Amino acid sequence: MKNTAVTFREAKQKGLRQTMVTAYDYSTAKLVDASDINAILVGDSLGNVILGYEDTVSVTMEDMIHHSAAVARGAKNTLIVTDMPFMSYQTSVYDAVVNAGRLMKEGRANAVKLEGGVKVAEHIRAIVDAGIPVCAHIGMTPQSVNAFGGFKVQGKGEAAAQQLLDDARAVQEAGAFAVVLECVPAPLAKRVTEMLDIPTIGIGAGPDCDAQVLVNQDMLGMFSDYVPKFVRRFADVGTIMTNAYNDYHKAVCDGTFPAPEHCFKMDETVLSKLY
Ligand code: KIV
Repeated sequence: MKNTAVTFREAKQKGLRQTMVTAYDYSTAKLVDASDINAILVGDSLGNVILGYEDTVSVTMEDMIHHSAAVARGAKNTLIVTDMPFMSYQTSVYDAVVNAGRLMKEGRANAVKLEGGVKVAEHIRAIVDAGIPVCAHIGMTPQSVNAFGGFKVQGKGEAAAQQLLDDARAVQEAGAFAVVLECVPAPLAKRVTEMLDIPTIGIGAGPDCDAQVLVNQDMLGMFSDYVPKFVRRFADVGTIMTNAYNDYHKAVCDGTFPAPEHCFKMDETVLSKLY
């Protein structure tokens, strides 16, 4: 059965934990789709782990559409949530609706995600009114890295913690079906999770969120530029890949690859007629 924004939201009422992982391409999406994971995030983190940027600021609508459509071709049952990139919604409510629509029509997403709380509540309401499910994202919102002065835990002091609660209430009231809490103290994430009817999706927000999300390359050990404190490596795929590349190189150099079973045959008489 297809996971949808509705099944994702209802899971909270049923007391079920949910999982989300990022994916950016067809073959990874197929593997996730064959697993128990409930949702794929086509995150603008593709700017970091796929395109090699320092942050997500340079990611474009075209990047997101390109990767979202590839994921949609691979994942038939998993809920696909696609990030709205920097400046695709902040500029106006109109831009937000138009660009959310493009991610659905061209990127074949099932829902969109955007960053911000009170300040983007009006944008969320308009997108939801257009029939597009919205996942909100509050706390450490990477598109605002320049305003934050770096990737820092949010909500530690009283004013910042109160702002997080206000943002959480605002996105729920605006109609979001879920909200990502990134890099916030675990007790504050617990408080938000208990306060909201919609599920919280934690990343660096402790164990009491209704769901968790991780970046695929981080959890599989495929990205070593930096490893955030909140990541657990569930596999060391990076080492497996490097070993495989070395085995391939060695086999080519020592003449054991390609072997006879990898070769196409032809009639020897044809060869003998050539000059
Ligand atoms: O882009 C992304 O991968 C994200 C997660 C970190 C939640 O927004």
